[in-house]
Amino acid sequence: MQVLVTGGAGYIGSAVAEELVGQGHVVVVLDNLAKGHRDAVPPGASFVHADLADAPTLRSTLERQRIEAVVHMAADSLVGESVADPARYYANNVGNGLALLDAMRASGVAKLVFSSTVAVHGEPTKLPVEEGDPTAPINPYGETKLAFERALGWYDAAYGLRSISLRYFNAAGATEHCGERHDPETHLVPIVLEVAAGKRPHVDVFGDDYPTRDGTCVRDYIHVRDLARAHVLAIDAAGRGTGVYNLGCGGEGSTVLEVIAAARAVTGHPIPARIAPRRPGDPARLVASSARAARDLGWRPAENDLRAIVESAWRFRERRR
Ligand SMILES: NC(=O)c1ccc[n+]([C@@H]2O[C@H](COP(=O)([O-])OP(=O)(O)OC[C@H]3O[C@@H](n4cnc5c(N)ncnc54)[C@H](O)[C@@H]3O)[C@@H](O)[C@H]2O)c1
Repeated sequence: MQVLVTGGAGYIGSAVAEELVGQGHVVVVLDNLAKGHRDAVPPGASFVHADLADAPTLRSTLERQRIEAVVHMAADSLVGESVADPARYYANNVGNGLALLDAMRASGVAKLVFSSTVAVHGEPTKLPVEEGDPTAPINPYGETKLAFERALGWYDAAYGLRSISLRYFNAAGATEHCGERHDPETHLVPIVLEVAAGKRPHVDVFGDDYPTRDGTCVRDYIHVRDLARAHVLAIDAAGRGTGVYNLGCGGEGSTVLEVIAAARAVTGHPIPARIAPRRPGDPARLVASSARAARDLGWRPAENDLRAIVESAWRFRERRR
C-alpha cells in the first residue's frame, strides 16, 4: 500500500510510519515540523515538509505518490493550550483536517485512519470507557477531535470516504527509532525521566487523596508500538466501513506513584516526588476498553508491562544523549 502519514515527524506518527515501513508499505510523511522532528521520520519513508493548509502540495502529494490511504496524526494536542487558544485548535484540528478530506476527495483517496482521543468523552460516566458512552468534551482539544470524528461520519454517508477513528489516552514508551520529544513536555513518563536525568529537580504529583489504590490518579498507558500496530490494522478495517474504536492498556491502568516507582527501578535514580494540590478537572481514574478493537481489528496491546514501557523510553533517552 502507498500510505500518507500526516504528522509523521511527531511522536506517535513516526512510530506509525516506522511500523508501516517495517511491514513493507510505501510511506510518505507530511509534517510542518511545528512540533515534530525531521530526524524522527524513519529511514525508508519519504518526507514532505508542508502544512496541511497548503492545498496544492497536499493534493500533488496524494496524486504523484498514488496514495491509497491516509493516517491522520497531525494536530495540536495540548489541553491547556487549547483552553487558552481555542481558535488555533479549531483552525488546525478541524479546519486543516477538513482541508485534508477535501484534497482526498479531489484525488480519489477514500480511506482514512484518524488519531482521536478518549478526551472526546470528557469526564467518563463509567469505566472502562466504551465507544458508545456519552461524548461530552470538557476542553477545546477534545471538542475539536469530536467535531472531526463527526464530520467523518457525514463524509462517508455523502462521499463514500471510509474512516476509522482511534481513541486512546496516553501513548508512552519508545521504539528503537521513535520516542517522545515534546517541548514543552506535559506527559508523565518523559517528565519523570527528565527528573531521573537531572533535568528537573522533582516531579509534582497532583493529589494523593483520590479513591485509588495509592491515592494518586490512575491512567491508561499504551506502548507507542502497540498504538502503531493498531493504526496499521485500522487501515484495513477502513476498507470495510467507517467506525470508532477505543484503545486501552487492557488492565487496571497505572497510578502516578507506580509510574515513578517503575522509573526509579529502571533508571536507578531516586526521582524526588512532591505532592501538590489536585488539578481541576482531573478524574481519579481513566481507563478505556479495547473489547471492540480486539473483536473487529484483532488488536490487543502486546507490550503493556509498565516497567518495560518506561524502560524503552529511558533507553531512547539514553541513546540520544
Ligand atoms: N500523545 C498522546 O498520548 C496522545 C493521546 C491520544 C491522542 N493523540 C493524538 O495523536 C496524534 C499525535 O500525537 P503526538 O503526541 O505524536 O503529537 P506530536 O505533536 O508529537 O505530533 C503531531 C505532529 O503533527 C505535526 N502537525 C501539527 N499540525 C500540522 C499541520 N497543520 N500540518 C502539518 N503537520 C502538522 C506536528 O509538527 C507534529 O510533528 C495527535 O493527533 C494527538 O491528538 C495523542
